[in-house]
Amino acid sequence: MPGPGAYWFGKEEMEAVIEVMKSGYLFRYGSENDPKFLHKVSTLEKEFARYCNVKFALATSSGTSSLLASVLALGLKPGDEIIVPAYTFVASYSSVIFAGIVPVLAEIDESLTLDPDDIERRITSRTKAIMPVHMLGNPCDMDKIMAIAKKHNLLVLEDACQAAGASYNGEKAGSIGNIGAFSLNIFKTINSGDGGLVITNDKALYETAFSVHDQGHKPMRFGVEVGTRNVLGLNFRMNELTAAVGLVQLSKIDRIVDTLRQKRKKLKSIISKAGGFKFRTLNDPNGDCATICTVIFDAKEQAAKVSKALGSKTVDQSGWHVYANMEHILNHLKSVGQPHTKGSYPKTDDILSRAMNISVGVVDGGLGAGWGININSSDAEIEAAAKQFIDACK
Ligand SMILES: Cc1ncc(COP(=O)(O)O)c(C=O)c1O
Repeated sequence: MPGPGAYWFGKEEMEAVIEVMKSGYLFRYGSENDPKFLHKVSTLEKEFARYCNVKFALATSSGTSSLLASVLALGLKPGDEIIVPAYTFVASYSSVIFAGIVPVLAEIDESLTLDPDDIERRITSRTKAIMPVHMLGNPCDMDKIMAIAKKHNLLVLEDACQAAGASYNGEKAGSIGNIGAFSLNIFKTINSGDGGLVITNDKALYETAFSVHDQGHKPMRFGVEVGTRNVLGLNFRMNELTAAVGLVQLSKIDRIVDTLRQKRKKLKSIISKAGGFKFRTLNDPNGDCATICTVIFDAKEQAAKVSKALGSKTVDQSGWHVYANMEHILNHLKSVGQPHTKGSYPKTDDILSRAMNISVGVVDGGLGAGWGININSSDAEIEAAAKQFIDACK
């Protein structure tokens, strides 16, 4: 079950893919002198940079590779620490672990994103960066996080993988810190099957991220230019077929987010009558991309009862999005002297045990959002879902 972009796949995406196939150029690099070469990847980079109002964007193979390229671009070194929330997708941890960096977990608050009040007590002499994750499309409290980063001279890598299209006080999610990472996988606001993007205003960061993603090469290379490279890279390149789909999806992004906001508003206005819960905090009520409607019940027993009645689950049960459910990450943290079990982050545990994710645009049982509405739900369907929810609350 996918995200909103996938619900809106149409003939435009199909035609764009066929156009690339007909061109004969599937790799991001082609013959610059051949008018048949369509430059889909570099066009997506330009368009996404324009959309986010930043100087540079880099297209990659996934959100995970965007995160890994970003931490390496920031110059984080093995043994450095990065503060990450205890509620996020597993890739926020695994991408930094692969770079030899130690993820230091911190509590979330009722926005289900990094709790600024918990960050400072996690800072040590090894802390080099903070990773705010805009979970479920809801931007973190970036004013407070940026102030803490400035005070302690820390870098900020925004994991905006779930938040393409979201903004915070008028600035696009991902564009506020030093560098931001996005995913275009099937569950995201817009998708291209798999894929990712990195954005930044810093030329040096962009160039290093580019090199990391392309075997050490500098941006926009012509052929294999040996002898002038000093960054060790891998292959996280996007191809022309993926970018062709990504470009069409990008042209739909504002319409997708507007539609989700309208549908969630209607859903919220009806279910709020049920009582016994509040909606999660939105750090910018006009900025979140409304892919999910999260309710936080007063009591965890009620959260369990309601979600079970609807065939769903509470957020603390949502697998590899909750620190305590990630067996491989827990094993790794133990091996670096950070033993964690459920209970290590009591505020996070408490909030997530009382929270239920209702789908609005991202319909994903893995997020605990297997029940709700979708971007194509009619008014009657939204009303019916709302009635079901209210009945379950009784
Ligand atoms: C918060 C977060 N970070 C990183 C990722 C990784 O993105 P991808 O699946 O494109 O590698 C995801 C994807 O689900 C995510 O939700």
